[in-house]
Amino acid sequence: MKPTLLITGATGFVGAHLIRHFTKQPYRVIALGRSPLAPKALLKTGAKYFPADLCKDPLPKQADIILHAAGLASDTASPKALFQANVQGTKRLITKTTHSFFVYISSSSVYPLSTAVHREEEPIDPNLLSDYGRSKLQAEKIVASYENSVILRPRAIYGTHDRVLLPRILSLRKGNNILLPCTADNLTSLTHVHNLILAIETCIRSPSTCAQETFNITDASPYQLREVVLQIIREATDRRLSVLTFPSPLVYGISSLIRKLKLNSKINKTSLDMLCKNHVLSIEKARSMLGYTPVHTFYNTYSDIMKWLKTQDLNTYLKDPSNAPWS
Ligand SMILES: NC(=O)c1ccc[n+]([C@@H]2O[C@H](COP(=O)([O-])OP(=O)(O)OC[C@H]3O[C@@H](n4cnc5c(N)ncnc54)[C@H](OP(=O)(O)O)[C@@H]3O)[C@@H](O)[C@H]2O)c1
Repeated sequence: MKPTLLITGATGFVGAHLIRHFTKQPYRVIALGRSPLAPKALLKTGAKYFPADLCKDPLPKQADIILHAAGLASDTASPKALFQANVQGTKRLITKTTHSFFVYISSSSVYPLSTAVHREEEPIDPNLLSDYGRSKLQAEKIVASYENSVILRPRAIYGTHDRVLLPRILSLRKGNNILLPCTADNLTSLTHVHNLILAIETCIRSPSTCAQETFNITDASPYQLREVVLQIIREATDRRLSVLTFPSPLVYGISSLIRKLKLNSKINKTSLDMLCKNHVLSIEKARSMLGYTPVHTFYNTYSDIMKWLKTQDLNTYLKDPSNAPWS
């Protein structure tokens, strides 16, 4: 009998990629999503849809392997909502569903911002993290107490069907200009979603090698974010655009004013940090212990991303990218 793989976050960007990938492998895939009905394209993959809110609904009783990609990844959600979805949801899943191996998709947000390269063994002060980062770190602690589990820390996952990073980058275009809140010449790690899948496959093929370990998972080398941002916007719009760069102290000042006035805006400290601060992760541990060899890069995958983007109505996508994982 084929082993059963339970994938959470079925309506999300990462979960949808995992479902598309693992339904083509010899697994019986159960796709857990919060919405009562499954997207049509999901059902076509052959996965069995299991509707459930991780925080309150009955969960599947048993699976051989759980890939936990559900989570609230938001820089504006309240600490309570983040705790419920990321900490309580993870706790319920890991305790209520019998399994022999558990893969937790954590995040680079468990590291504070710094110019140093982040390694898995570094001590982390939770007070330096965003609410989101703190909730992911708390969830990690729960997962780490289970023997047959592994924690993966990707950084800014990208690829086709993305509903966070790509819309955020594309919204920097205003008319014939690209508005950058800083020079964006900082270095950042990024993780192509298929590199993350490579790491997951390696872990589930040899669980004993990675049990109770934590691994940073990114592309082979960091990127200069400015290059990536400009290439995506120029390719997506097919127009000659000029770049207007604002001094970052001014933009950070405006964002703090927006926060104080409790105004609704996409400009906040976390979204600015994403563009303006270094955030680089070392993948030496994954390379040496797992033999992780990421082959996908922004440069060898952006044409696929652009091809997919051209199948979407850009205005609708930018206004509401929530359906992107399955469209
Ligand atoms: N995208 C990135 O750049 C990135 C980087 C590092 C780490 N991560 C981590 O990777 C994971 C997947 O991220 P993503 O980009 O795929 O996010 P996403 O597109 O927002 O998907 C998250 C999924 O989790 C589901 N979910 C949230 N709360 C739930 C609950 N209480 N019960 C059941 N399902 C729930 C969402 O359901 P709805 O569709 O109903 O909301 C959605 O399907 C997250 O844990 C995130 O922290 C993401």
